[in-house]
Amino acid sequence: MRLEHKQAIVTGGAGGIGRATAKALAAEGAAVAVVDLNGEAAEAVAAEIRDAGFTAIAVQADVSSEADIERVVETTAAAFGGVNVVFNNAGIIRRTTAIETSVEEWDRVFGVNVRSIFLMAKHVVPVMAAAGGGSIVNTGSGWGLKGGGQAISYCASKGAVVNMTRALAIDHGPQGIRVNSVNPGDVNTGMLRDEASQLGQDADAFLAEAADRPLRRMGEPREIASAVVWLASDESSYVTGSALVVDGGGIA
Ligand code: NAI
Repeated sequence: MRLEHKQAIVTGGAGGIGRATAKALAAEGAAVAVVDLNGEAAEAVAAEIRDAGFTAIAVQADVSSEADIERVVETTAAAFGGVNVVFNNAGIIRRTTAIETSVEEWDRVFGVNVRSIFLMAKHVVPVMAAAGGGSIVNTGSGWGLKGGGQAISYCASKGAVVNMTRALAIDHGPQGIRVNSVNPGDVNTGMLRDEASQLGQDADAFLAEAADRPLRRMGEPREIASAVVWLASDESSYVTGSALVVDGGGIA
């Protein structure tokens, strides 16, 4: 049990990577708050964790809302006696170029992917600092490091995640808070099928193309979860401000 005495928030906890990570954190001993826009799906993941004999609650929230983030932090701290791990993972993608992107879509992508992480830091850092520290892990993307086609708002937002992670690590390291990003390549989740549909492409062909990398396959959500467990745990105690790439090779 690498995460005994940890109290964790996982946003986007009902989705592919979030669900796998919530389960992995709980299996290592953390109490987990599963946070998602889809409250019913979040509750289903929390129930799955409890049925396996571990500790979890569900909190419905829109991570782009400050009131919701405040409620997530307060609810989790009240339920578990504190918060010392956060996985800021909720994210959305719009597969459009600049010309095709409306200002509203741009703002929504930044609200969910970027403002959420700022809001979480604003409200959770004081809680973590008062208890002597913690670990924040943010989900970036390979495309936040190298860019990609037909996803202008997404690439910009994930680049912001990677650099905001470094800035947070610098500001809050002295308070014992480590902040790192995990940067997946293509991972087998609903997001990839959503991308195929946004681009008007066949999902199977799109997924097959995603396997074109040195390890010759897409990633599975549990493989991102393993990296997050390590970053959340004291095994990574001297790691902060880093951008960990988990992509089967080929990004950088
Ligand atoms: P997913 O679509 O399976 O899960 C995303 C979850 O976030 C969903 O459960 C959704 O309801 C939730 N969500 C969306 N907007 C929200 C909001 N405003 N407030 C709260 N929850 C919200 O996608 P997946 O693949 O698990 O993505 C997780 C993260 O990983 C995202 O940040 C994504 O950008 C990133 N990522 C995914 C890759 C992939 O290939 N699947 C590659 C690189 C990064």
